[in-house]
Amino acid sequence: MSTPSGKLAVCLLASEAAPLSKTGGLADVAGALTKYLHADGHDARLFTPLYSSIDPAALAARPVAGLSGVPLALGAHRYLFSVLEAPLPGSGAPVYLIDCPALYARASLYTIEPDEHLRFIAFTRAALIACRELRFGAQIVHCNDWHTAFAPLFLRTEYGREEPLAAARAVLTIHNIGYQGIFPAADVADLGLAAGDLHLLHQEDLKAGRINALRHGILYADALTTVSPTYAREICTAEYGMGLEDDLRARAAALTGILNGVDYDEWDPRRDRFLPVHYDPQHLGGKAELKRQFLARAQLRTAPEVPLAGIVSRLAAQKGIELMFDALPKVLEARPLALAALGSGEAKYERFFAELAHSFPGRVMFEAGYDEAQSHWIEAASDLFLMPSRYEPCGLNQMYSLRYGTIPVVRRTGGLADSVQRYDAASGSGTGVVFNDFDAPALEWALNTALDLYAQPLQRARLIANGMSQDFSWQRRTGEYLEIYRRLSGG
Ligand code: ADP
Ligand code: GLC
Repeated sequence: MSTPSGKLAVCLLASEAAPLSKTGGLADVAGALTKYLHADGHDARLFTPLYSSIDPAALAARPVAGLSGVPLALGAHRYLFSVLEAPLPGSGAPVYLIDCPALYARASLYTIEPDEHLRFIAFTRAALIACRELRFGAQIVHCNDWHTAFAPLFLRTEYGREEPLAAARAVLTIHNIGYQGIFPAADVADLGLAAGDLHLLHQEDLKAGRINALRHGILYADALTTVSPTYAREICTAEYGMGLEDDLRARAAALTGILNGVDYDEWDPRRDRFLPVHYDPQHLGGKAELKRQFLARAQLRTAPEVPLAGIVSRLAAQKGIELMFDALPKVLEARPLALAALGSGEAKYERFFAELAHSFPGRVMFEAGYDEAQSHWIEAASDLFLMPSRYEPCGLNQMYSLRYGTIPVVRRTGGLADSVQRYDAASGSGTGVVFNDFDAPALEWALNTALDLYAQPLQRARLIANGMSQDFSWQRRTGEYLEIYRRLSGG
């Protein structure tokens, strides 16, 4: 039921979206997919919470008529929400901000408070109610991760039973199966389902005393995607499925892996707005200059020819930080190497990097926190970039690194396996250093291999040139999403 021009109406639901709000790659993906669908002429509209870190005035956001002080009852909880509309910065695609200070005016985007499930159930329902009031006949409702994974069920039980969403089909993208949105079955009323619809909930989980948001998305979405072909295979196994592998295997025919794209408007050393100097494969002098400036700013006192390794990461177990506990001090002791790490997360990882900086003064810099500008500087100034992830659904920084002429050192898992090819010195093919085993010796081997390659000017030049010529642009990826949207909507 697409328009004669083949253009689709797509409602995107995301708990974070760049450049409005971000803790990780989901934000980059939600923002970019909306932007590129819009640029391609589709009626793509993004719904996201109005967190207190978002300034509606700076966005020139306007209240949507008829959507002010809308009551929403979830179990015993009563909320009032409003909807503001703004153009997505850098795109112009419409964004609808769900405003409900009782739920979103918190110190961080995500919390560990007992109403965390309510915050996103309310968001999902508010977005679907907004579609109804706006008469937005979305053909596709595209939800992301556990936060909005109840949308397919809500479409079946309520909003899809009437116009304008009667023909809507639901797509769920799994960005990270490690977060499932599990809450106590005693809070079942918080879903706001009618008594007659409760049988649609996963009964075994209910009996076991819990409700798993992501599982319901997997059960009820018309199509499932995840963010790389390898991760699509991995999550169907017990090793990576985190308890959802059986549900995923049962729906294998509906599951597709689509590698994330890179928004090269934001992440390209030819025009990066955070950098004072730009470069391309023919003019790598700019990269050397940025490294020089960065070393000075970061108070790293190594000579410019000493390789600099970069890390920009959420500091969570997923990211394989514990492999660095052994490997990094060893390699730092044995070889000339500097390290710049930026990240925030679990205290034990922050402590590790702080101690490392203390043990190797002038050679290791650690910035705890979230710092957009610094993340661009580290991508550009570094020679190597470390991502030894335990699991990695897609990963974006390795793809940014390739474009910035920064050699990725990655574990062969998920999207890292799909976007970085192991460099073969004999043939000169490949784009990075790739290791298999999740252990410290394997990471140590990979670091040493990367340093050996870096020390050989011809190999280094070849490796960097191969990486910089890779194209992970969103223009290609949106085509893969459109194929799924069209198959579902019959367009
Ligand atoms: P994940 O979503 O699992 O965190 P990705 O590699 O997909 O991993 O995306 C991470 C995104 O978040 C990248 O854009 C990266 O630059 C950014 N990022 C992560 N940590 C920080 C930080 N401390 N400061 C700034 N940006 C960060
Ligand atoms: C998740 C994953 C990451 C992925 C991102 C965007 O947070 O951890 O690998 O790139 O989502 O899809």
